[in-house]
Amino acid sequence: MSAQRTVLSTQVGIVGGGPAGLMLAHLLGRAGIDSIVVEKRDKDTIHATHRAGILEAPTVRMLTDSGVDGRVLTEGHEHEGTVLRFEGESHRIDFKELVGESVWLYPQNEVFLDLADARERDGGDVRWSVTDTEVVDLTTDRPGIRFTDAAGEDFEVRCEILVGADGSQSICRRAIPEQERTDNFIEYPFAWFGILAEAPPSAPELIYSNSEHGFALISQRSGTVQRMYFQCDPEEDVDDWGDERIWAELQRRVEGPDGLRLQEGPIFDKTVLKFRSYVCEPLRHGNLFLVGDAGHTVPPTGAKGLNLAFCDVRVLAPAIVEFFRTGDGTGLAGYSATALERVWKAQNFSYWATHLMHTQPGENPFNQKRRRGEFKAITGSERGAAYFAESYTGWPDDR
Ligand code: PHB
Repeated sequence: MSAQRTVLSTQVGIVGGGPAGLMLAHLLGRAGIDSIVVEKRDKDTIHATHRAGILEAPTVRMLTDSGVDGRVLTEGHEHEGTVLRFEGESHRIDFKELVGESVWLYPQNEVFLDLADARERDGGDVRWSVTDTEVVDLTTDRPGIRFTDAAGEDFEVRCEILVGADGSQSICRRAIPEQERTDNFIEYPFAWFGILAEAPPSAPELIYSNSEHGFALISQRSGTVQRMYFQCDPEEDVDDWGDERIWAELQRRVEGPDGLRLQEGPIFDKTVLKFRSYVCEPLRHGNLFLVGDAGHTVPPTGAKGLNLAFCDVRVLAPAIVEFFRTGDGTGLAGYSATALERVWKAQNFSYWATHLMHTQPGENPFNQKRRRGEFKAITGSERGAAYFAESYTGWPDDR
C-alpha cells in the first residue's frame, strides 16, 4: 500500500468490467454521464474465458443500435430455430414462425471485446487488473470504491451512484449487510462438461439432446470451431477425460434412429461448469445497485445469463440518466422491482428447461417417463412450442 490514496470523483462508479459493467458505462457515456469502471482481471483473461454464446434479439440491438459495434451482425450467426432431441428423436422449434423472433450465436467473450474496444475508442475510464477492491459508504450520497491499480497506486473513487457488476462472486453484494438482503438459491446435482473442438459443424442450429445417458448440447462457434457440453457430476475431473472418451460420450448422447453423428476433431479446451440458481433481493442497497450475475445467476441451459444482465442495464441506465438530468429518483427507486420481474421469469425458464432436459442421478423411471410426456407436450403442440420459443428468444421488455 502506498502512503497516500489518490481520490477521483465521478458520477457513477462501476465495479466489474465484464459485459454488464461495460455496457452500462457505454450507455451512460452516450448520455454524457461520467463513470469509472474498475475490474480485477485483465482484458486478455476475460477475453479467454469461454461463456455461453446465444444472444437474444434485444441484446443484439443494444450492441448495434447504441454504436458498440456491428461485428455481431457480420461474425455472428442468426438462428431462427433450435432442435430439441429426446431419446434420439429431433424436433425443431421454429422461433421465427412461432413468435417472429430469432437469436444470434455470438460468443460472450466477443461481446466483451467489442465493448472493451468501444470504451477505449470513446475515451471511457476503465481500470483493469486492480486489486484489494472495497466498496464503502453505500447508504450515503457519496459512496466510494477503494482499490490498488495495476502499478500499485492506491485510489478512492467517490461517486453518486455505485453499481455492482462484478459477477457471481460479487464483493458489492457481500457488502450489503446480511439482514438487509435475501439470498434465494438452489444447487443442482449435476454440472456441464464443456469443450471447444477443432471440427466442422455437426448441425446448422443448436441441438439440446436428452438421452438415457444424460443431457448434451451441441453448439457452434464457427466453420472450424465447435462448442459442446454434456451433463456430468459436479466433481468431475477434466483430466480424467481424453478426447476419445469425450467423443464417445457425446456420440452416445445424441445417437438415434436417424443416424445422427457428430463431426469429431481435436479438443483444445475442457471445463466443468457448476450449476446454480441464485437471486439477491432487493437489487439495491442505499446508492448501490446490482446488475447481472452480481445480483442473480442462472444455470446455462436457457442461455439467459448475459441477456438478463443486459435487461438489467436497459432498466438501470435510463433511471440513472433521469436522475442526473432532472434529480428525479423515481426510476432508481423502481429499478429493483422492475428488474426482478424479468429475473424471476428467466429463473423459472432456466430451472424448468434444466429439469426437462437433464437426467437426475438415480432418476426414478416415473420421472424419466413424465419428462418424456412434458417434452411431447412442448414439441407436439404449437402452443407448447411457442411457450418455449418465446421464453428462449426473450420476452418483450414491457411484459
Ligand atoms: C454456447 O454456445 O456456449 C451455449 C449455447 C446455448 C446454451 C448454453 C451455452 O444454452
